[in-house]
Amino acid sequence: MSTPPRPLVLGIETSCDETSVAVLDGHDRILGHVVLSQDVHEVFGGVVPELAARAHLQKIDSVVERALAEAGVGLDQIDVFGVTQGPGLIGALLVGVCWTKAAAFALGRPVVGVHHMEAHLFGPSLEDPGAEPPFVALLVSGGHTLLLHAEAWGHYTLLGETRDDAAGEAFDKVAKLLGLPYPGGPHVERDARSGLPGRHRLPRPMLRSNQRPGHKDYYDFSFSGLKTAVAELVRRLEDEGRLEEERSSVSWAFQEAAVDVLASKTMRAVEATGCSRVLLGGGVSANGRLRAELHARLGATGRLFHATPRLSLDNGAMVARAARFRYDLGRVAPPDVTAAADLRFPGLTRRSA
Ligand code: KG4
Ligand code: ZN
Repeated sequence: MSTPPRPLVLGIETSCDETSVAVLDGHDRILGHVVLSQDVHEVFGGVVPELAARAHLQKIDSVVERALAEAGVGLDQIDVFGVTQGPGLIGALLVGVCWTKAAAFALGRPVVGVHHMEAHLFGPSLEDPGAEPPFVALLVSGGHTLLLHAEAWGHYTLLGETRDDAAGEAFDKVAKLLGLPYPGGPHVERDARSGLPGRHRLPRPMLRSNQRPGHKDYYDFSFSGLKTAVAELVRRLEDEGRLEEERSSVSWAFQEAAVDVLASKTMRAVEATGCSRVLLGGGVSANGRLRAELHARLGATGRLFHATPRLSLDNGAMVARAARFRYDLGRVAPPDVTAAADLRFPGLTRRSA
């Protein structure tokens, strides 16, 4: 058996409700990859931070063991330990960071602290080596909605972000209003397929045709108003005893509104930067309707990059990939590194529209 190219990187992700570990070889090939989704949160309709931390603690050893076994390597063969340092739930993050520090210290290996959203930027490149900057990136997850221009790895210009709820959070909240399970995104998408187009009209918050570059609303997002509009519609349909029969059509209308806003702002970024390569990252990038809309709007001259759900939802492989990038730049964490719930996005600068 030939030995895998070095350095071997272990990536550990515990920022929210997935305990995930991956081993990447020196060619960024995934040798082992385990994602364990916590189901303790389903009955609460959302992630309970205390339960998430406890579940990570219970499972992290066995998830690491399974990933190493799949890769066919021992822990002592790992050269670099990459771990999500933030942003995320502090108790959950601390489990991953403390576990990593202890293992790396015992073996005398470096630790690289990874920013969760930078890791999402690297997800698609693990399946498609062409998913490299320059690109416009729309990062849409349960906690963040970021529109940025990546000129090169590590050089990012922030164009827009959400002022309130994240895109994934909006899907989750709407699912809850409609009585669909958590996490809501995939359920709303599935439900919308049997919805009747155009039965309900919902607003496109912060999207108006008279916005111009330079205006603060041009690239930013807002989803809480859309959620409130769904809540009002649901209340009215409930009063009329029609929610059951209209549920799918409400899912359809919500998804269309969210996708329209996300795709429209992304196309503004494409126009302004002159860059028609677009990367879609984060859990909401699993949404087929969003992908199809961006694909259609980009047309034949544009390129759309996204990962399969295994690498677009939270996972350890993207963390290992981002860790390698930072390690190659010499960004090894100091011994007193700790988790940071609101970690700054490295290399991200703000640009006014
Ligand atoms: O990136 P991710 O796995 O975790 C965070 O970093 O937050 O994203 C999770 C989010 C959840 O809000 C989930 O509902 C959403 O991604 N999501 C989707 C779909 N699959 C997952 N949203 C819309 N459509 C989907 N198919
Ligand atoms: Zn994520």
